[in-house]
Amino acid sequence: MEYRQLGNDGPRIPVITFGAWPIGGGMGSVDEATAIATIRRALDLGITAIDTAEYYRTSETVIGRALVGRPRDAVFIATKVSAEPFTRVRIREALDNSLRALRTDYVDLYQLHRFPSNVPLEEAMAGLAEAKERGKARYVGVSNFTVDQLRTASALYPIQSLQPRLNIFDAAATRDLLPYCAQHGIGAIVHSPLAKGLLTGKYRPGDTFPPDDERSAFPRFQGETFARYLKAADQLQALARAKGVTLVQLAIAWTLAQPGVTSCIVGAKTPAQVEEHVGAADLRLSPEDVAQITSIGEVPGSERF
Ligand SMILES: NC(=O)c1ccc[n+]([C@@H]2O[C@H](COP(=O)([O-])OP(=O)(O)OC[C@H]3O[C@@H](n4cnc5c(N)ncnc54)[C@H](OP(=O)(O)O)[C@@H]3O)[C@@H](O)[C@H]2O)c1
Repeated sequence: MEYRQLGNDGPRIPVITFGAWPIGGGMGSVDEATAIATIRRALDLGITAIDTAEYYRTSETVIGRALVGRPRDAVFIATKVSAEPFTRVRIREALDNSLRALRTDYVDLYQLHRFPSNVPLEEAMAGLAEAKERGKARYVGVSNFTVDQLRTASALYPIQSLQPRLNIFDAAATRDLLPYCAQHGIGAIVHSPLAKGLLTGKYRPGDTFPPDDERSAFPRFQGETFARYLKAADQLQALARAKGVTLVQLAIAWTLAQPGVTSCIVGAKTPAQVEEHVGAADLRLSPEDVAQITSIGEVPGSERF
């Protein structure tokens, strides 16, 4: 497993982080025994960073159970405050709840899930600062911020990392956010590298998702739009096959090839899925490969999830 430093002065973390939204049930239910086996398999394979959030349903509780018996410092745990308002009091309560669920007395990274919509940014940043001062968060970060929001937030309190969306179909962060992070020594832990399953090669036009799977409501997973993405995914899969790798591995490696990326958070539901992810950590794409993949990913008329 390759490790990269998180920001200017942060710890070294693996290039693949375990994304814990799916094991919380956000993309269809996953039974607890499978969820625990998946987390443990990831850790055993060197995926020793885990990303979760207050909003990820049973995720924090299941992670807490999966980590019983493991040394605390063997895993880098990142979580987020999700439910607004992001006041100091709310942030303190949310973090204490997360710590209880995770069965630990500190997290390695505590993040605002998004830019605060109904309190001043100063208030939310003071909440993050307090989390660090109380010794309950080693580092603090933000998620889904724009460059302007990141700039304003960094002026209020040092930000260790940003968590933006990045995948072959959603490359916007490569144009402004990632260069900004690289220039200012802010780590970038990117999310949704498989475009929530579009970049796995296993879906066909017309496939449907159960109501408890968020994809059942996403425009990208319906009708013509779905078919258009899957056509591009087929082209990418052919390219992957020619290299002797899978589309999942190609998609992860493409994110890791983007300048400024520290780690890529990949969601998984089974031990077999994490076994496939690990294979991407050693895959190096040439600049020509990256350019070709990027261009296939520019699907016309693309819509948000
Ligand atoms: N900050 C934010 O706002 C934000 C937003 C989204 C995500 N995130 C973070 O980023 C993580 C990753 O994003 P994500 O989990 O939403 O989506 P993702 O990583 O793009 O896709 C994960 C899904 O792809 C499928 N998959 C994964 N590995 C596979 C494999 N080897 N073969 C076939 N299918 C595979 C699985 O679903 P199926 O098997 O059902 O297809 C899995 O649930 C999240 O877990 C979360 O930690 C953060």
